[in-house]
Amino acid sequence: MENIKKIGILTSGGDCAGLNAVVLAVVNAASRFGWEVYGIHDGTDGLTNRPLSYEILTEQNFSNTPWPRMSGSYLGSLNTGVKESQEVLAQRFGEGVRELGLDAVLVVGGDGSMNIVSNYCKLANVKMIGIPKTIDNDTPLTDYSVGFNTACQVCTKALDDLMTTARSHHRALILEVMGRDAGHLAMHSALAGFADICLVPEIPYSLEGIINKLEEIKKSGRTSALIVVSEGVKTEKGEAVTSAVNAVGEKINGGIGEYLSSLINAHYKGFQTRVTKLGHVQRAGTPTAFDRGLAVILGAEAVRLLAEGHTDRMVAFTAGKVTSFTLEEIVASGTTGLDANSPQVQAARAIGMYVGD
Ligand code: F6P
Repeated sequence: MENIKKIGILTSGGDCAGLNAVVLAVVNAASRFGWEVYGIHDGTDGLTNRPLSYEILTEQNFSNTPWPRMSGSYLGSLNTGVKESQEVLAQRFGEGVRELGLDAVLVVGGDGSMNIVSNYCKLANVKMIGIPKTIDNDTPLTDYSVGFNTACQVCTKALDDLMTTARSHHRALILEVMGRDAGHLAMHSALAGFADICLVPEIPYSLEGIINKLEEIKKSGRTSALIVVSEGVKTEKGEAVTSAVNAVGEKINGGIGEYLSSLINAHYKGFQTRVTKLGHVQRAGTPTAFDRGLAVILGAEAVRLLAEGHTDRMVAFTAGKVTSFTLEEIVASGTTGLDANSPQVQAARAIGMYVGD
């Protein structure tokens, strides 16, 4: 068994439901080995900024609070890139880790965080274990990331609510959901929320296909329709609908719902359309039982790996089994989009949902 006494844990990237459940699992599992757990504040900022920002987490001060049952990140997170060079940040990160005497750092993050923080750890010679989380479900080599299931639940609830008003006003309502450049959240929610049309970045679509589906619904005598569109969907010609960027120049998705609404209205009079852009509520909601269970399984596995002397890996839940991959494999795999032949897409097509051409 590795001689570990103190570990750090941080959450990185966009928050989601289930992060605090991961922290609970790590704190409780680590305390079985007698390890101290340092909760790092605000992602890597807690280690790269001065003064260092952290707190010691114990079963007594953390597990027995409502936090593990709640969304958000108790520790705080960081979802925007920074302007300083990776080398400078990695050096400060490493100095921070050594100042606290941490033997390893657990990073709860998505594909971007696995990439960036694993690079800091490599440059600064820090041991790391990754734990996947994201509402986008695009972290590679794991079937599920913590937070995705709850986000699907939030989107499905939105579709349930939209259905009633769509019916009252005989409208086609468009729900724009997050997901970055992956259509997992849109497709899983569209299936669960019985949408009529679901557009995802991975599958090309046509206005004609959308209108044909709406017309089919109209002819069948139904007077309302639900459309789900993923924020990463582009125009029919493959152009981004927005050129918006954040403070550090990273592209911001969104706006495709409004774009589609205008396009449909300009070419088809069968239904009035309205758009709901669900936004950041998708990152909240009471964590589902699935996400809590996954959080505990992956958090406990991360501690077990460390205890057995393994590092520089990301734990994963793949094909119904808990497993792990090297961080190099994760980084090399990039981002995992929705497979156009996945069971979800096949089932959607089979029940007559328009999912593109
Ligand atoms: O990656 C999670 C996510 O919620 C994406 O689905 C979305 O595009 C992005 O983060 C939003 O980021 P921000 O919170 O910086 O607006």
